Amino acid sequence: MPPLSNLATRDVETLVHPYINLAGFRENGPLIIERGHGVTVYDTEGKPYIEGMAGLWCTALGYGNEELVEAAAAQMRKLSFAHLFTGKSHDPAIELAEKLKELAPVPVSKVFFCNSGSEANDTQVKLVWYLNNALGRPRKKKIVGRIKGYHGVTVAAASLTGLPANHADFDLPLPGFLHAACPHHYRFAEPGESEEDYASRLAAELDALIVAQDPDTVAAFIAEPVMGAGGVIVPPRTYFEKIMAVCTRHDVFMIDDEVICGFGRLGTAFGCETLGFRPDSISIAKALSSAYLPIAGVMIPETMYQALLAESRKIGVFGHGFTYGGHPVSAAVALKAIEIYRRDRIFENAAERAPQFQKRLGVLGEHPLVGEGRGLGLIGGLELVADKRTKRSFLPQQLVGARAVQFAEAEGLIVRSVIGDVLTLCPPLVITASEIDELFDRLTRALDNTLDWVTRERLAQT
Ligand SMILES: Cc1ncc(COP(=O)(O)O)c(C=O)c1O
Repeated sequence: MPPLSNLATRDVETLVHPYINLAGFRENGPLIIERGHGVTVYDTEGKPYIEGMAGLWCTALGYGNEELVEAAAAQMRKLSFAHLFTGKSHDPAIELAEKLKELAPVPVSKVFFCNSGSEANDTQVKLVWYLNNALGRPRKKKIVGRIKGYHGVTVAAASLTGLPANHADFDLPLPGFLHAACPHHYRFAEPGESEEDYASRLAAELDALIVAQDPDTVAAFIAEPVMGAGGVIVPPRTYFEKIMAVCTRHDVFMIDDEVICGFGRLGTAFGCETLGFRPDSISIAKALSSAYLPIAGVMIPETMYQALLAESRKIGVFGHGFTYGGHPVSAAVALKAIEIYRRDRIFENAAERAPQFQKRLGVLGEHPLVGEGRGLGLIGGLELVADKRTKRSFLPQQLVGARAVQFAEAEGLIVRSVIGDVLTLCPPLVITASEIDELFDRLTRALDNTLDWVTRERLAQT
């Protein structure tokens, strides 16, 4: 291992990084990114990388967009901070909420702003509890997430999340948070089971879970349209229509976590439009501002707003809010991002690029190291396996996914490896046809190099 650079050493000695083995990180150090333009970022040595993950599934308009920079600068000059507490307001938040109501795929009464996807989902949980208290149903409080669902890391959001590393030794999930099965046909369908039959079985299992818990105690179900951090899992055909029927039957509120899928990722404004379901409320973040500044929100239906009114009449105040929720500079940037999405037909561009992206992903699905290539729109996952026929995974400690990420970086491509050695792809939505080809050319070379390494080290045999 070459010695760490001065900047890398300072990093290792000063920062705690999320989502890394902190012990191994001390030896390997970080990849330090210095600047970006379009879909490309550059490290401190000046080496370019295609940002195949749009940062963390978020920089939809790519890097260096001067219009967004200008929107932020102009708003900072005019009014650098204002809040929405205690009856105050400001123009950017009002206008953004109006725009979001226009864009929304279902009727939205009001928008509540926060700063991160986790805060949005924590807010969803609190509002559902509030709702059921207002409706005189104090027992109806349990929330059902899904195994491999990802909803963030704050205490309630991490409880919604269905990934072991977000729970282990954090003493989570909290009581009252349940997890339904993961809708991944490749891994969990019975032999010969069609996608439709598998979807029916998952819906029947959810129904049974709710009945076993007592429907009078189950308040809400939360789902991402396509799971992201759990490994880019596209649900089986007819899944959401069948799941929605179960929620309706038991009067279970359906929360749609659009933190990744929202704003064009699947080729429509919201993921639920591509997957054909109508949620009760929606969490948004990430591409809302194309990640130029932090901003997130909850899109609230009228029924829930009425409950907030009733509770604040009873208690005297709606006791929830974040200092920076709806920050005017973030809101101004989000407004500009939405203007660009519409003007430059960015969601349509994603839809037009999707067949090429999915085709090249499908070709890589044939690679000897890949068990399944899967995706929808401009999001994709490649599940690496030790044995393609039996679908046997590599051992976690072999770190095959992490090594593939390094080979990709050597080729000038940033991808991510999530649990189960799934390489994830989620490029900026402004990516062009030739950039998609270049991305997959680099990824193919990285996979070939990973396969050579796996063969040399005999990792598939153990
Ligand atoms: C679907 C989904 N929900 C929520 C979150 C949490 O968002 P944040 O990291 O902004 O708290 C994420 C983050 O990746 C996400 O992918």
